[in-house]
Amino acid sequence: MSSPKEQDKHKGSKGEVSRRGFLEVTSAGGAAAATVVLDQPAGAQSRTQAGARIAGPGPVAITLNVNGKMLKVSVEPRETLLDTLRGPLDHTGAKRVCDRGTCGACTVMMDGKSVYSCTVLAIDAQGSKIETVEGLTADLKNDALVNAFVEHDAQQCGYCTPGFMVAAKMLLKETPKPTYAEVKAGLSGNLCRCGTYVGLRNAVLGAAQGGRA
Ligand code: FES
Ligand code: FES
Repeated sequence: MSSPKEQDKHKGSKGEVSRRGFLEVTSAGGAAAATVVLDQPAGAQSRTQAGARIAGPGPVAITLNVNGKMLKVSVEPRETLLDTLRGPLDHTGAKRVCDRGTCGACTVMMDGKSVYSCTVLAIDAQGSKIETVEGLTADLKNDALVNAFVEHDAQQCGYCTPGFMVAAKMLLKETPKPTYAEVKAGLSGNLCRCGTYVGLRNAVLGAAQGGRA
């Protein structure tokens, strides 16, 4: 049986256990936890013998902090943050391309760190500050990075661009004056299948230098 410490890392901010976390705990040999019945009515919650709440498998009501707004939504615990953002919350900036944590098209910020939203369960994002490309580039005309992307013809498609934009914002936040090598490394989690990497890197350098690069 997994230790209380191991079980705690699977709990959300409200002490809930996601289905993924539950499966990890039980697969680690949790004989007691395995007695929890998941086949219950939508929205119902039960508790493990240790007292942790089990959510689902039907839709449960959650609240997500997205771009500074507290948004209420009903999701199944298996739903990813990406699907919740793009579906019921109608924030379609983050794109689903690979849906398996490889391409970076779905990148958003969570508590100031960039994450692949296709690899985060919506239910686990409760209590976190989520920032999408819509929020990070709200002032399009006066955004130095947006202008630099245009100036350097940094992208061709609309699928990879939002993810690159979020990753670049993250990079400049942590390293305001990056070198070319630092830009290359900072954007290495995002893929552009048509190879506009040089334009992208120059755009980030340009934004860092006040648009003059
Ligand atoms: S869609 Fe999430 S990493 Fe590709
Ligand atoms: S410009 Fe989007 S994949 Fe290359």
